[in-house]
Amino acid sequence: MENRKPIAIASDHGGYALKLAIETYLTGEGIPFRDYGCDSPARADYPVYAVRACRAIQSGESDFGILVCGTGIGMSMAANREKGIRAACCSDRYSARMTRAHNDANVLCLGGRVLPGDRAVELVRIFLSSPFEGGRHAERIGMFEKIENNQELE
Ligand code: RB5
Repeated sequence: MENRKPIAIASDHGGYALKLAIETYLTGEGIPFRDYGCDSPARADYPVYAVRACRAIQSGESDFGILVCGTGIGMSMAANREKGIRAACCSDRYSARMTRAHNDANVLCLGGRVLPGDRAVELVRIFLSSPFEGGRHAERIGMFEKIENNQELE
């Protein structure tokens, strides 16, 4: 997957250390990113940072985001309330690939208290390099938009 736009990345305190490790990886790979906070390990409210990064995707500044909190779950819950955001909380390689292939996920959520750094970085690598398959999966993504607009699915 081509990634010319910066990855929108954000965390709360529970994901802060892992976010820095992911940024080190991205820098080493020459993958541009923009960090939407938080900026220290001090206690922070994850929905604030989830929304900041998601807004960058909605505006077209970024195509993809990475959100990190303690479990990745709160970030994914907050992100999936935003229109056009398909956030997946992953802890295994298969899910990181399949959520791109079948769900066209545009945000990867990771748990800084769940994942070792090397595993998380591998999930980022897989997520960013896995293509969406389209076809019948695109029809299902279209259903997400209908849900967002309170339309009937059938
Ligand atoms: C913060 O303590 C923690 O609740 C947060 O990082 C995240 O795990 C929530 O889902």
